[in-house]
Amino acid sequence: MDMSARIPTLILGGTGYVAGEVLRLVLAHPHFELAGVMSDSQPGEPVGKAFPHLAAVLGDLRFSSEEQIRDQLAQHPRSAVFSAAPHGVSAALIDRLLSAAEAAGTRPRVVDISADYRYSTADAYASVYKHAHGAPARIQDFTCAVPEHLPKAPTQHVAHPGCFATAILLASVPLLALDLVTPTLFVSGITGSTGSGRKPVDGTHHPTRHSDLYSYNALVHRHIPEITACAAAASGVTADFAFVPHSGPFARGIHATVQASLKTPTHGAPLDTASLLARLREFYAHSPFVRVLDTAPRLKDIVASNYAHLSVIGNGRTVAVTCVIDNLNKGAAGGAVQWMNRLFDLPETAGLTAPAAGWT
Ligand SMILES: NC(=O)c1ccc[n+]([C@@H]2O[C@H](COP(=O)([O-])OP(=O)(O)OC[C@H]3O[C@@H](n4cnc5c(N)ncnc54)[C@H](OP(=O)(O)O)[C@@H]3O)[C@@H](O)[C@H]2O)c1
Repeated sequence: MDMSARIPTLILGGTGYVAGEVLRLVLAHPHFELAGVMSDSQPGEPVGKAFPHLAAVLGDLRFSSEEQIRDQLAQHPRSAVFSAAPHGVSAALIDRLLSAAEAAGTRPRVVDISADYRYSTADAYASVYKHAHGAPARIQDFTCAVPEHLPKAPTQHVAHPGCFATAILLASVPLLALDLVTPTLFVSGITGSTGSGRKPVDGTHHPTRHSDLYSYNALVHRHIPEITACAAAASGVTADFAFVPHSGPFARGIHATVQASLKTPTHGAPLDTASLLARLREFYAHSPFVRVLDTAPRLKDIVASNYAHLSVIGNGRTVAVTCVIDNLNKGAAGGAVQWMNRLFDLPETAGLTAPAAGWT
């Protein structure tokens, strides 16, 4: 493709936390050009009012209505669309916009960050989310995977697997794909308060969460079926994920630890930490955003970046892999930009290599 022509880019779910992070990344991206940000609740309002940390570079940009976004999509022969709308809303919204683009003869590529296109059937989606899928006929146009586990999407559009899923899949898939463990994985994951979105709700609101740590939805979290399906597609093994999510006393970041029983090797000594580290490094040798550390990964080293830090410990019987990511970046906006880069045959790392701030 002509690398000098910038790709018009549209963002849905405008005032949300994830949309704000997509916006931040797109504004600094060498190949994407912001063409519009849709807001359902605030069309016409200044985008900088919703995101004061971006106001200096937004100028007088205003939120667009759905109709304005639809007109933009009809104008551009190709465009990039990021949906950061809520699940239950995103599928039908994307479907309406794609139908209008198809009628106009244009061909946008979509990365949906919501859960709406993560399932391969409408029934599977409905059984978890307890409402009918918004656009069942579109499901076949989406593939759901962490970019590190699928080199090329076989479909025109991609569904991002989400934040907890990204961390847990990055930690688990090597263990399963390399046949190192029996397929029952015990997972403890801690998320920051931005994981619950902008709207304050009792129980997920930051004043409730700060200075505290507690588990929720233990063993029944709704992302377990999504993680199980993505892990099976990436590794060829259907594993049992026993997942206990926790609320952490911080705004951004996910810290996930996956433990499992190591298989006894048919020959040679049981795998120790050094050999597990070597296997993990080899597995992610061509993944520019995954770094396998000798020491325990820390949130501050990755927060607001697209990097994932992993470490592994083994004692011959049990293995523990820890993964830290930023939920809004690698776990949502950054992972989505990584996929969009690939959908447009751009370098995978374009616009994503900025390191973490360190002391936030
Ligand atoms: N937060 C995370 O860490 C994270 C990580 C991975 C994936 N996700 C997923 O990413 C999506 C956005 O998450 P978020 O945390 O940014 O949520 P959020 O802060 O609650 O933002 C969602 C935004 O969607 C828009 N919206 C709400 N109702 C709508 C409707 N009926 N029609 C159209 N738009 C509507 C609203 O913006 P407007 O009114 O301006 O349109 C709202 O601000 C969700 O699907 C979430 O599951 C979130």
